[in-house]
Amino acid sequence: MGADSAALRGEALAAVAGAKDGEQLAALERQYLGKEGAVGQLMGALRALPPAERARAGQEANELKRAVEGALAERRAELARARLDAERSAVGFDPTLPPAPAPRGSLHPLTHVVRRLEEVFSAMGYAILDGPEVELDYYNFEALNIPADHPAREMHDTFWCDREQKLLMRTHTSPVQIRALERLKPPFRAIVPGRCFRNETTDASHEHTFHQMEGLVVGEGLTVGHLIGTMKTFLREAFRREVEVRLRPGYFPFVEPGFELDVRCPFCTDGCSVCKRSTWIELCPCGMVHPRVLKYGGVDSERYTGFAFGLGLSRLVMLRYGIDDIRHLMAADLRFLGQF
Ligand code: PHE
Repeated sequence: MGADSAALRGEALAAVAGAKDGEQLAALERQYLGKEGAVGQLMGALRALPPAERARAGQEANELKRAVEGALAERRAELARARLDAERSAVGFDPTLPPAPAPRGSLHPLTHVVRRLEEVFSAMGYAILDGPEVELDYYNFEALNIPADHPAREMHDTFWCDREQKLLMRTHTSPVQIRALERLKPPFRAIVPGRCFRNETTDASHEHTFHQMEGLVVGEGLTVGHLIGTMKTFLREAFRREVEVRLRPGYFPFVEPGFELDVRCPFCTDGCSVCKRSTWIELCPCGMVHPRVLKYGGVDSERYTGFAFGLGLSRLVMLRYGIDDIRHLMAADLRFLGQF
């Protein structure tokens, strides 16, 4: 290496290493690598050299140029790192600390139960249907054999959206029975999990917003035997053991005959507060679909029969998790929800 270029290299690298900030680095870049800079001049001088020396000198000049460029880049990075470190220690930031734990969400207990039931019923060949929460009087009452002056309407304290348009918040999931009959061709099996609304005074067992799961099965030759068998199968799957059931007569205008299905209390053998000392728990109203309902849904009631049930989901969730107040379910209290 020529003495000139070696001296220049030493000087340039030392200057770059000693630069205090970006401005100084920029000045050094101009000083050494600029058109009029020292390296530039060295390049310019090549032309005056005899051809035999030119190649070697040219190579040397290029190497020098690269060395200065490299040193500039390195010093820039160094200065940037130092600046970041200074900023971090100024705010007390330590990049080696583990992150603060992020709060994790959890599924609502209702979601757990609905998913489990959907699993059980899907495995039994049921379709899972949905329906509108803002419903027409026709679907919520009329087509379910509850005409305008029917006393059964008194049981359904209704939130009206618009009385003239006959629009209401559905008071049960049963209106989806009619929608299913209209849309599906028998034979079919379907469940409808969903929210219902009633204009009721709330207490530990009443809430204006609650959940039901409707079941509807329509086909040829279906009887009460199929209804009982279905309920026992589903309960065995849901509770993962044999559950004793009983039917009592119950009245709902859209089923005939209609029943209340009770299950043996899973919490006791001789009476407790959950079963109100009776050892039986009222689980779900059900019955054979009224022929008039089939007709409303456009299904031939001479050829087809069906059964329906209305599982009280909110109640089931409370039983499943030992929740003593239905109002917890809608309260959106993270201290409550975080437990599931
Ligand atoms: N929809 C009824 C209610 O909420 C319950 C029910 C459903 C009864 C299906 C019979 C059959 O009161």
